[in-house]
Amino acid sequence: MDKFIIHGGKPLSGTVRVSGAKNASLALMPATILAPGKFNLSNTPALHDVVTMSALLESLGCVTQHRDHTLTVDSSNVTKFEAPYDHVKKMRASVYVLGPLLARYGQARVSLPGGCAWGPRPVNLHIEGLRRLGASIDLDSGYIVAKAKRLTGARILFDISSVGATGNVVMAAVLAKGTTVIENAAMEPEITSLAEFLIRMGAKIHGLGSSTLEIEGVDDLHPADIETIPDRIEAGTFLIAAAMAGKKGGAVRVERCNPKHLGAVTNKLEDAGAKLSYGKDFIELTPPEAVRPVNVMTAVYSGFPTDMQAQWIALMSLAAGKSVVTDTVYFDRFTHVPELQRLGAQITVKENRATIIGSKELTGAKVMSTDLRASASLILAGLAARGTTEVLRVYHIDRGYEHIEVKLKGLGAEITRVRSEEF
Ligand code: EPU
Repeated sequence: MDKFIIHGGKPLSGTVRVSGAKNASLALMPATILAPGKFNLSNTPALHDVVTMSALLESLGCVTQHRDHTLTVDSSNVTKFEAPYDHVKKMRASVYVLGPLLARYGQARVSLPGGCAWGPRPVNLHIEGLRRLGASIDLDSGYIVAKAKRLTGARILFDISSVGATGNVVMAAVLAKGTTVIENAAMEPEITSLAEFLIRMGAKIHGLGSSTLEIEGVDDLHPADIETIPDRIEAGTFLIAAAMAGKKGGAVRVERCNPKHLGAVTNKLEDAGAKLSYGKDFIELTPPEAVRPVNVMTAVYSGFPTDMQAQWIALMSLAAGKSVVTDTVYFDRFTHVPELQRLGAQITVKENRATIIGSKELTGAKVMSTDLRASASLILAGLAARGTTEVLRVYHIDRGYEHIEVKLKGLGAEITRVRSEEF
């Protein structure tokens, strides 16, 4: 298993390019099941999660090819309708095949995802939404077994705004008979990009980007192509790396991102004292002299993303004062905290709230990744720390950041990937 060795404290400057969004790709890919034929998804990032989703689509009968960041999916011969436990336990987003399989083939058998690294993440809303569309759904030996002759449009009001449940229900409703209205739908850009893709395939969806989606079902869809939107979380992670690196490097330009998707993060970075300038597809950040403490509360889009919470805590551990970071989306997503403490960060967690007393300096140590965003926060802290940091189990980072060490090296960081026997 690989680990990263980081010699911290190097100034960062220059330009870094953002890849396509993992969480957009993971929704676009299963949507190809909805129509037979060949799809081209350009700007698809080379990530482990994309490989895992490709393998799942292949196991259903699709043929996939990923070359030069274009993923081609041929969904002409889907003959299986099951997402086995082995896939779903590797990656929860495997649940996304449920809606499309059910809508197009009238059946799906998808393993329940169970817990994840930071606690329970249920799929009850996915199931309730699909039931509302007329699917019969049973739970059998850890599997969701769903059947429907033809789904029928319905009014669905989600108790909680859920990215995955919205994605699954939209993908099912596009082929249902009649109109579906989803209220309290997720407004994340990844869901909007999924809806845009479905419209290109012939679906009729109104209200994109709002919390009410109206879907007029159609009888069939056709293949289409789309360019994957930039990864707003990857972009935000590089901005925080730049803010933590201090003044001596100068500015870092994060290119090929969509600044409109990053408003909550860039506002908070400005509050923390960073200077930002914006172009159509880039953000340039000049680090502050001293990072100001800034409280953050995560929320659904367009609020501050939970996927940036761990990285923000890393930044705040260098702030000149006390800050509070509250996660309202996932109540116990704080596995990075004990590891950040090993680097000298002063953080206490109570319920879903982390209180951070910033210090002038972090010091290098051996730390362990526990999940994707936790790994990102440890790398950020290691880059800013004095001395050497070893981040073990970096397979988590490869799920969601494309060649992060290469991109960081391009900015002047000293970070090396090495093979390691340590687990
Ligand atoms: N929830 C339920 N029931 C459900 C579904 C969700 O109670 O049936 C709750 C969750 O427990 C959570 C909240 O609703 O408290 C929101 O969860 P959501 O369903 O929106 O999350 P998700 O679709 O499983 C996606 C991203 C996550 C990201 C969340 C929140 C993908 C593949 N994953 O997950 O990304 O944290 O939305 O924005 O899109 C990551 O990239 O590191 C990551 C974990």
